[in-house]
Amino acid sequence: MMKPLQIALDGPAGAGKSTIAKTLAKKLGYVYIDTGAIYRAVTYRALKEGIGLEDGPALAAMIHHMDLRLVPSESGQRVFDGVAEVTDEIRSSEVTNNVSFVARQAEVRDALMDLQRDLAREGGIVMDGRDIGTHVLPSADLKVFMTATVEERARRRHEENVAKGIPSNFEQLKEEIALRDKRDSERVVAPLRQADDAHFLDTTDLSIDGVVMAIEQLMKQVINR
Ligand code: DC
Repeated sequence: MMKPLQIALDGPAGAGKSTIAKTLAKKLGYVYIDTGAIYRAVTYRALKEGIGLEDGPALAAMIHHMDLRLVPSESGQRVFDGVAEVTDEIRSSEVTNNVSFVARQAEVRDALMDLQRDLAREGGIVMDGRDIGTHVLPSADLKVFMTATVEERARRRHEENVAKGIPSNFEQLKEEIALRDKRDSERVVAPLRQADDAHFLDTTDLSIDGVVMAIEQLMKQVINR
């Protein structure tokens, strides 16, 4: 049996990471771990409790009282905060537009590090995020940095929203994505950055299958190394 790998998938918002991670995990029998959902669940809870989104120590204290669980399911990954399921709530535009403020607090990132590493420990995982290859799993077996133009990423999000029946405005999405990229890349702590040993993959002109195939090709190189 082949050793189950740790695959780190990083890149900006809307690059297709979650679609690819989900598809790849299913194909390989791996577990998909969406770390963005963790930052979103923390943001959702902070908004609900009225905790300052830039108050790192208060957010960290809140996190230590949270029981965050990611549960794999047929339709993707379900997210629980204690007994409350927040899978859909964490995708609201209020959470989406505020999560970068929470994610840039050093205390928050520290408080979430162990949880993420625990989830990845056994291998056989595809973990998607912003700093998986650079900070969370610096010795992951395979690191991929995926990106696409802002235009293409906004188009994909827009189609996703339309398909789900969520109200969507393409121009507004483009602005929001560009703004979130800027905040995620310019933050001081663990900014969005390609790890030195990550493979760069521009998905602008690739289909989902094309990207999955490219990553499987990279996996073969890792296995034969
Ligand atoms: O992938 P996503 O859009 O669900 O991520 C939500 C936010 O969380 C994103 O704006 C940046 C942040 N994030 C992060 O800082 N580090 C991660 N590993 C994953 C997400």
